[in-house]
Amino acid sequence: MFVEFEMERLQSLYENEVKYNLSDSGNHPLSMNDLLSEEEISRILNMEIYYGYTTGDPRLLSAIASWYPEKINEGNILVTNGSAEANFLIGWTLLEPDDEVVMVLPNYMQVPGLAKNLGAKVKTIHLKESLGWHLDLDELASMVNEKTKLISICNPSNPTGAVMADEEMQSIAEIAEKHGAYIHSDEVYRGSELDGKETKSFVHFYDKSIISCGLSKSFAHPGLRIGWLVASPDIIQNIWTRKDYTTLCASVISQEIGTKIMTEPTRNDILGRSSKMLTENLVLFQSWIDSHKEIFTFVPPKAGGMAFVGYNMDINSTEFVHKLRVEQSVLIVPGDCYGMDGYLRFGIGANQDYLSEGLELVSACIKSLGY
Ligand SMILES: Cc1ncc(COP(=O)(O)O)c(C=O)c1O
Repeated sequence: MFVEFEMERLQSLYENEVKYNLSDSGNHPLSMNDLLSEEEISRILNMEIYYGYTTGDPRLLSAIASWYPEKINEGNILVTNGSAEANFLIGWTLLEPDDEVVMVLPNYMQVPGLAKNLGAKVKTIHLKESLGWHLDLDELASMVNEKTKLISICNPSNPTGAVMADEEMQSIAEIAEKHGAYIHSDEVYRGSELDGKETKSFVHFYDKSIISCGLSKSFAHPGLRIGWLVASPDIIQNIWTRKDYTTLCASVISQEIGTKIMTEPTRNDILGRSSKMLTENLVLFQSWIDSHKEIFTFVPPKAGGMAFVGYNMDINSTEFVHKLRVEQSVLIVPGDCYGMDGYLRFGIGANQDYLSEGLELVSACIKSLGY
């Protein structure tokens, strides 16, 4: 049976209908006017709208490569339509029926559904709240063996916002290397660490890692639909063969704007803006959580525009989310989308007033339940 992508469908149905969309996990974007100079806007207005390079504009590839260790160059990168396409292409290229995948959960939930839809055998291991949403590495070691084709990770983590330390990544790389498994690391939240200390990419630790990333979250511009893959040149070539069947290339206009975003000093400015917004918003969010202390448990995120919160109200998470949506016009994500009822995911990357007004309405919904 085809596994549907529950969270994306929930967002597609309602995110543009509600007054307060707190289901997003990225940062509030800039407008073209705020991001681009007059000269850059004029250049875009005069561009001829060709297909462009199917693997990515060389200037964009070079700007992306400069965000990774020196060993990474243009031949290690393929530009995609969002990191969603990057994730899809990794699954489609690597996974055949009955291949074993070790999946670290919870995660964005695209890859688990995709792997099952491709007929792979999915073995799951959960991040532990008691470990600050980190992995039990002994448990991981016991699950990986010579049958494991791929270990799939999201770091920094959606939905928990946890960030792996270098030593954790090194240990995971050693576990994978022992059995020759690939590591897929979805790193779309890398660069929005609240303490400003950038998480290392898995490519630092392991040559058989395949990274998906993009401009939608830490880089705050989801509407551009720019993502990318980083891998060894042979894997990139294999994946490109599949991409000829999907979207051919990303939009030339988006690649032009994306090149500006990934080039210094803009890259650093945007990441700095994301970290600052999230740090300020987390103070607001934490004080809102504190005002509902008896209901919530909360390990604050270290990166990414979201907060994953446990609750002890007597209501199913999906039911709560629809009650909130219908009665207060606020959208958040139920733990059910992660197979984790009893949790709720709040987007905290919006403008402060918007976030604060949305949270007031969540309080009203909680109150109406008698808490
Ligand atoms: C971890 C993760 N990966 C990938 C995506 C897809 O994002 P996009 O295709 O906009 O880059 C998301 C979106 O929420 C995400 O959270």
